[in-house]
Amino acid sequence: MDKVVRGLKSSTKSLNQCCRLEEKVAIVTASSQGIGFAVAQRLAQEGAKVIICSRKEANVNSAVDKLKTKGYEVSGITCHVGVDEDRKKLLNEAISKYGGLDILVLNAAVNPSIGPVLECSEAVWDKIFEINVKSTFLMMKESLPLLKKSKSPSIIIMSSIAGYQPFDMLGVYSISKTTLLSLCKITAQELARDGIRVNCIAPGVIKTKFSNFLHNSEAASEMIIATIPMQRFGIPEEIGSVAAFLASSDASYITGETIVAGGGIKSRL
Ligand SMILES: NC(=O)c1ccc[n+]([C@@H]2O[C@H](COP(=O)([O-])OP(=O)(O)OC[C@H]3O[C@@H](n4cnc5c(N)ncnc54)[C@H](OP(=O)(O)O)[C@@H]3O)[C@@H](O)[C@H]2O)c1
Repeated sequence: MDKVVRGLKSSTKSLNQCCRLEEKVAIVTASSQGIGFAVAQRLAQEGAKVIICSRKEANVNSAVDKLKTKGYEVSGITCHVGVDEDRKKLLNEAISKYGGLDILVLNAAVNPSIGPVLECSEAVWDKIFEINVKSTFLMMKESLPLLKKSKSPSIIIMSSIAGYQPFDMLGVYSISKTTLLSLCKITAQELARDGIRVNCIAPGVIKTKFSNFLHNSEAASEMIIATIPMQRFGIPEEIGSVAAFLASSDASYITGETIVAGGGIKSRL
């Protein structure tokens, strides 16, 4: 682990004092590992009560145990974001465990195959759009009755740098992430009058299981790092901190925006 990353990891450990999110209730989808886990951890560190969820019970239990050991207020439930009944259970969990919902982080995404866009099968296209886009839309829609009761509601959608600069072999995934930028813009307009802020995060290449194929060999790592001005991969904690900012009152006048955390990879003007 390089020195910068070691420093970042230890500085996030000393943030327990920070309490921007006290009294808030958060749901983070796909949060048993990777970026979702780091987001859940950071929101909890800042005082939020956080519901962890993903498809596999063992993963959810393990994530909840890790965070409870640190003294955070978290609870867990399984939820496949593409399953109507699971999303309903998840929202009910927020009501029954913590009495409402203030922060919704929509982090789940899949990328079942790699290759040129026009070689993608219809089934893969449908899967990517079902999970990455449709489930995000449905979760937002279904959470509105709860968010409208919150004093400072916030929705955060996990897009990607690939939403701005499509990745060659991740074409359909990139298109789905561009769609989320648009979903964010339009819903931010629609929900502003209800005081609900909607923002996106566009991570660059973050070291997780999802991006494993980009860093699982020295040759792949070198090739990717050569395209990143900061000359390193990001770590999930560097996305957790962006999410905590967007969820907090520090971002109270920000809606419809996307924060790129990509180590300087070109995204937009
Ligand atoms: N890593 C990167 O470089 C990068 C860059 C830009 C954007 N992103 C975005 O960041 C988000 C998280 O990626 P990651 O890198 O953290 O992935 P990851 O480390 O592979 O973690 C994926 C998580 O998603 C859960 N999951 C998968 N399918 C799910 C579903 N249908 N419903 C609910 N949970 C599900 C998994 O748990 P279970 O197996 O238990 O379901 C796991 O907790 C994604 O939206 C991704 O597009 C990642």
